Amino acid sequence: MTFDRSLKIAPSILASDFANFGAECAAVESQGADWIHVDVMDGHFVPAITFGAQTCAAIRPHIKTVMDVHLMIAPVDAYLQGFADAGADIITAHVEAGPHIHRTLQNIRSLGCKAGVALNPGTPASAVADLIDDVDLICVMTVNPGFGGQKFIDMTAKVRTLREMIGDRPVHIEIDGGVDPTTAPLVRAAGADVLVAGSAVFRGGSVANPAPYGENIRAIRAAAE
Ligand code: DX5
Ligand code: ZN
Repeated sequence: MTFDRSLKIAPSILASDFANFGAECAAVESQGADWIHVDVMDGHFVPAITFGAQTCAAIRPHIKTVMDVHLMIAPVDAYLQGFADAGADIITAHVEAGPHIHRTLQNIRSLGCKAGVALNPGTPASAVADLIDDVDLICVMTVNPGFGGQKFIDMTAKVRTLREMIGDRPVHIEIDGGVDPTTAPLVRAAGADVLVAGSAVFRGGSVANPAPYGENIRAIRAAAE
């Protein structure tokens, strides 16, 4: 993966057909997705359960771009090897998921993956101030994690603060939750480069009829650019 701050749209397969992940990934990629965002939930750190490393491994061959794995699980460390083996390009863990986020980020990099850290809406930018040189991506949650289709919570001030903290470092700022053509411009202007979108990408389309995915991706991109 080469680093740049160009706008990237990362559809979240949380909003896709759970019986058809492989075809859904191929469909959104054919329609212009830059990355594929994979939401792992454990029913403990967040209320819902989605799937684990085995499912990620099954999905991987169907992804040609970047597999961006968002771990909403606690504890994290014992599971990292499994997600790395599954072929994750980026593994993101939550700063709130335990007392040893620095160790977790070191572990992710030692497994050969890019390391991401996610911040819940209630967590300030300062929580990652001492981690800036240990991360490749900071994920700013603009909903409380656990479900797709929630209302965007405005975190643009936090994004601006993080953008300043990052400076020239090759660190992505990713936005996750409630991204659509009305909210995307706000976070892009504040300095984000990766926009995760679930419902706003998958609504109206299907594997059999993927054209709406493309229209939805282009609408988010056009609004943000
Ligand atoms: C929320 C997940 C998000 C979610 C985004 O817990 O981390 O990735 O799928 O879904 P939308 O875009 O529908 O808010
Ligand atoms: Zn996510």
